[in-house]
Amino acid sequence: MNLPSLSETTTLIRHRRSIKPVDMDTTREVEADLLTELIENATWAPTHGLTEPWKFHVFSGASRQSLATQLRRIYQETTPPTEFREDKYQKMGDNPLLAPVIIACVMERNGGAKIPELEEIEALACALQNLMLSATAAGLASFWSSPPLLGSPEFQTWLGIRAEDRCVGLMYLGWPKPGLNYPRSVRQPVSTKISWHHD
Ligand SMILES: Cc1cc2nc3c(=O)[nH]c(=O)nc-3n(C[C@H](O)[C@H](O)[C@H](O)COP(=O)(O)O)c2cc1C
Repeated sequence: MNLPSLSETTTLIRHRRSIKPVDMDTTREVEADLLTELIENATWAPTHGLTEPWKFHVFSGASRQSLATQLRRIYQETTPPTEFREDKYQKMGDNPLLAPVIIACVMERNGGAKIPELEEIEALACALQNLMLSATAAGLASFWSSPPLLGSPEFQTWLGIRAEDRCVGLMYLGWPKPGLNYPRSVRQPVSTKISWHHD
């Protein structure tokens, strides 16, 4: 089998960046076949007990406007007045129209009590990393957004998911704007993150 080399894999992993919707090209669609391949790659994540605890709600075209409208409505309804921020309210409505695709990524509780909820969320996080790396390999920008309102009953009801399920993020996908100054990120030296145990 012709696997990518470790060095190619390292390059891909380190090249992935969070690229905001404002830096995505609103004029370019993402083809359904490509989206399906990215999501299928997501589903090849490890999953304890093969519960496959995920559901991907894909918003594109006009459905992005209703997502934007609902995000604003629910932000207004669920945010205490002292915490309400006008700039956040605006962004809730602007972002879905800046990206051609938004995926509401849901942890679907399929394993019953046997598999702890945390493990189902961990499996979904693995799936989303698969999705972002695949998007990066395709040249797409991706951005994981997790406003607290995603956990509200109002949002769950609107999305049509059960109380035991949880939307862990909105994954914005799109082609980077031409000429985008590619974002940089930093990590602490790996030596500070390893504790070697030899004997
Ligand atoms: C679970 C999770 C939730 C995130 N939610 C947000 C978010 O709500 N807003 C945001 O700006 N970035 C969010 N991010 C992206 C991080 O800010 C980003 O990964 C970090 O700044 C490092 O940048 P990089 O992804 O380019 O390496 C989230 C990332 C994860 C893993």
